[in-house]
Amino acid sequence: MIIAFHNHKGGIGTTTLAAHLCVLAKELGIPVAGVSADFKKELPRFLEPEKIPCIELDPRRDEPDFDLFVIDVQSTTEPPIEPDVWVIPICDRTSNENAAALADSLRGPMIWLGNKGRRVRDVPAYLQSDVEVGKPIPFSRAVELAGADYRVVWSVPELAHTAGAQDLRLALGSLLARAAALVGQSLPGIDKPAATPTTSGTESIAPAT
Ligand SMILES: Nc1ncnc2c1ncn2[C@@H]1O[C@H](COP(=O)(O)OP(=O)(O)OP(=O)(O)O)[C@@H](O)[C@H]1O
Ligand SMILES: [Mg+2]
Repeated sequence: MIIAFHNHKGGIGTTTLAAHLCVLAKELGIPVAGVSADFKKELPRFLEPEKIPCIELDPRRDEPDFDLFVIDVQSTTEPPIEPDVWVIPICDRTSNENAAALADSLRGPMIWLGNKGRRVRDVPAYLQSDVEVGKPIPFSRAVELAGADYRVVWSVPELAHTAGAQDLRLALGSLLARAAALVGQSLPGIDKPAATPTTSGTESIAPAT
């Protein structure tokens, strides 16, 4: 399965969410590789310490050894390949508005994902049958702190068990389940998605001291 994170609006968590999904998959025993479609090449900086490969090539053609590919498509970069599932992170009004325009130009199943606690609003009626809305990812000070150093939260002992980090993992687990269900693929450690996405709060969560 190939999952791509993308929105035309930058700075909304694309790289962070792609990296954390890769690590979650690895922890679940799913053979996973990252793909960076980003001139800044940030995803490899997250994944290298986690010993998760970040490949350059078309995963369908060249890399049969992985069950899951996670592509970080930077806002101004063209997607290198059509994935099985698009994940469109949304964390403010502009990124929500951009999602509709972006969805028009993409093909295949899409999950709109509120990041930093933002709910997805106003999925246009004509898109509603094509778009799934994922459980919002909560704002986490732990994630933000780790992001500054390209670290994933649960590799950092003092950040790993914060409520924000745990919520992030839960939300990404449910995202993976939702994507697998859309594609009809079963993955180890992944249950069926919850029928109704829950909405979580938007408060910040301080890291444990
Ligand atoms: N759920 C979250 N909770 C807290 N902070 C977050 C969350 N998601 C992302 N961030 C923080 O927001 C900032 C932007 O995230 P990120 O770099 O992943 O965005 P991006 O969309 O990849 O940006 P760019 O367009 O520059 O590539 C980072 O500091 C990151 O740590
Ligand atoms: Mg990025």
